[in-house]
Amino acid sequence: MPTDDLDLLVLGSGVAGLSAAVRAAETHRMRVGVLTKGELPQSTTRWAQGGVAAVLHHDPDSTDLHLADTLAAGAGLCDADAVRVLVDEGPARVQELIALGAMFDRDPEGRLELAREGGHTLARVVHAGGAATGAEVERALVVAVQRTATAVYEHHFALDLVVEGGRCRAVTAMGPSGERLEVRASDVLVTTGGAGQLFAVTTNPVEATGDGIAMALRAGVAVADVEFVQFHPTALHHEAMPRPLLSEALRGHGALLRDARGQRFVDELEPRDVVSRAETKVMQAQAVDHVWLDATDLDEFDQRFPTIAAALVELGLDPATDWLPVAPAAHYTCGGIVTDLDGASSLPGLWAAGEAACTGVHGANRLASNSLLEGMVFAPRVVEAIEHGVSGPSATGAMRAVLGAGGSIGARPVSRPSSADRVAAPASAGGSDPSAARSALQRAMTAGAGVLRSAASLGEVEQAVARAAASTAGEGSAVAELRNLVEVGWGLVAAAAAREESRGAHTRLDFPRTVDAFRHRHVLV
Ligand code: SIN
Repeated sequence: MPTDDLDLLVLGSGVAGLSAAVRAAETHRMRVGVLTKGELPQSTTRWAQGGVAAVLHHDPDSTDLHLADTLAAGAGLCDADAVRVLVDEGPARVQELIALGAMFDRDPEGRLELAREGGHTLARVVHAGGAATGAEVERALVVAVQRTATAVYEHHFALDLVVEGGRCRAVTAMGPSGERLEVRASDVLVTTGGAGQLFAVTTNPVEATGDGIAMALRAGVAVADVEFVQFHPTALHHEAMPRPLLSEALRGHGALLRDARGQRFVDELEPRDVVSRAETKVMQAQAVDHVWLDATDLDEFDQRFPTIAAALVELGLDPATDWLPVAPAAHYTCGGIVTDLDGASSLPGLWAAGEAACTGVHGANRLASNSLLEGMVFAPRVVEAIEHGVSGPSATGAMRAVLGAGGSIGARPVSRPSSADRVAAPASAGGSDPSAARSALQRAMTAGAGVLRSAASLGEVEQAVARAAASTAGEGSAVAELRNLVEVGWGLVAAAAAREESRGAHTRLDFPRTVDAFRHRHVLV
């Protein structure tokens, strides 16, 4: 396998990474390497259910409406220019995926079927296999990448960025047998996804350990908005981890939420932050650990949602007769590596896209089904920028705030403890066992930095992060993942503690109001 001479090295193999790899190799004949810690199809994308939000049929819908819905969900922190790019370029990227072989669901006349989800004023979500959209998107892209990439490094764990002369030139990685190597490329694109594994209750697969965001933090690259973790309101309340997701499309189809007494308590089509908060408050008031999703009135559940139906049958649940127990679960990291509209980070030669990035499209809370879309839209823009010789960030998108270039959203630095200041704490229960330390960290994050937070709860989480940090000495991928979770965990707690207001997915019990003075990004330093 060649380890140098690549034009573009892509870290991660979800929709963003693979979209970039295909564009670079097929359209521009670049020598592309894709490096991933699992196998190519193993990514958070594969788990995405609902679909891709894109305005494919105009009238009554329009990209202006999609833009307005996205800005409303983002609670004042979206970058409007980034959202404009997202909604305008999305439809063409969906058509390209179809041309590549992705099969989206169609009605009997052959038109793409559109679903409605929370926060969308109209039905505009294309889907595949009912609610198996991510799996189909991933399948189509994997086939294309296997055909076109110069090098595929599966079971390789990216450890750190190599910066030479102020530019990212390579990454250090750990190979399948623990061997160390350096993979060099003219440009490096981080698409390693989010950090849902910081939490004990999450819809994210075990791979979602914030690796790219943590590498960026260690290299001093600007990272922002990490306090905004989206909790999905309808994860099945079941011991399986990741939690089986009951797609938002079920509520879009008419499923209702009921409390312990069988009463409705929220408009099911509100954005996820609103619904998750309402659920958590009801659960606390009624001293229960779940609410109910009532899909008993949905027509043709099995035909419309075959994968969810099959999963429920396996668990002994029949959606035609049973209310389904649900509770919020950590689902999406809204922040990440700050980028401009072309995906350029603050470090020349380093680019980011997808959940690992903070483009500015999600603000304080992502709109449903805008995640696959973001990866499909912004990753190819990275490739186009590289092709056009762009070598550093411009003052656009979320980067505008970081570069202090004006606009309505500013940036404020938030300090994470430096390595010297990180309080030496005794290791978590389980001593230096990284998997015990990871579980303890996850439980603490869910308890204290979940849907509802306060200064006191965040203080407890900070101590838990310090305890987990004490278990990060050593080698191996379990330790490397824990180190990354700790890195992002420090950042999340610091940014959440500094944000003394409630906004979008960040709810402070001690600061319940949204405060104009906090309409800025917290940039981790
Ligand atoms: C869902 O189907 O509810 C998840 C899709 C998304 O995260 O937008």
